[in-house]
Amino acid sequence: MNAQNKSDRTGCLESSSAGRSSPPSETQRAWRLILLGAPGVGKGTQGELLSHGLGICHLSTGDLFRAAGSRKEDEQTPAMVEAMKYMRNGDLVPDSTVWELVREQADSLRSQEGFLLDGFPRTLAQAEHLKLFLDDEKLSLSAVVDYEMPQSEIVFRLSGRRICEKCKAVFHVTWRPPKIGGVCDDCGGRLYQRNDDNPASIAVRLEAYKHGTAPLIQFYKDLGLLTPVDAIGSSEEVFARTMAALQARA
Ligand code: AP5
Repeated sequence: MNAQNKSDRTGCLESSSAGRSSPPSETQRAWRLILLGAPGVGKGTQGELLSHGLGICHLSTGDLFRAAGSRKEDEQTPAMVEAMKYMRNGDLVPDSTVWELVREQADSLRSQEGFLLDGFPRTLAQAEHLKLFLDDEKLSLSAVVDYEMPQSEIVFRLSGRRICEKCKAVFHVTWRPPKIGGVCDDCGGRLYQRNDDNPASIAVRLEAYKHGTAPLIQFYKDLGLLTPVDAIGSSEEVFARTMAALQARA
């Protein structure tokens, strides 16, 4: 497998049957998953593999914000313009803006095929909003996968990440380099570095993770949903480990 992350992660409805040709039968399980883990741990990479492997839709709030940010200025709400500033600095976007964005995807969350949330929830308030929503809909989460990795590897992964501006494939200058520097192997698009993948923003994001997101680990542990997975190794190894952990829960 070469570059990954090419399907749309900004809405589930179109890509929801990516790996499965028909809706789940009674014996097939509709997985409802959350991916937790520090920035750069590989949530997007694994989210893509899992969504194809399990036939569920992949919703990334980071991608939703980036897609909203690339709209024309007159199509952006003031909340979205504000959100872009937070993202650039590496800070978390305010909960109210995030929930507004996620609410727009309510139909995706109700999908009978299940879903995979990448980058949401990120605070206790967001987790509580989501729980209330799912409780109201009489839906329950299957598992919360928590990817674990030392900080030195995180900085290596983030500072070398490059993304295709056309097809959104993800490369890494050392680990998964393109055949021609700066050019996407698949579509020939230009590769760029995310504006929050710089040392100052990475430091802020890691801090925001420690204070805002790490408390979610206890929240989901108390609900009996936490599924820790070691994120070191190739993406195929991490994927196999994740599938084994999910099968063990099932
Ligand atoms: P978001 O887009 O969610 O970014 P993030 O959590 O910082 O995570 P990343 O996308 O940086 O990393 P990843 O774990 O997906 O890693 P990837 O697979 O790409 O959020 C960005 C911002 O949006 C936030 O800072 C915040 O401002 C805002 N935001 C979003 N959601 C929010 C919310 N709910 N509340 C508030 N604010 C919110 O991999 C990274 C690199 O490593 C790649 O180059 C990849 O090729 C490489 N790699 C992957 N796997 C491996 C492997 N096994 N071995 C070696 N290299 C690997």
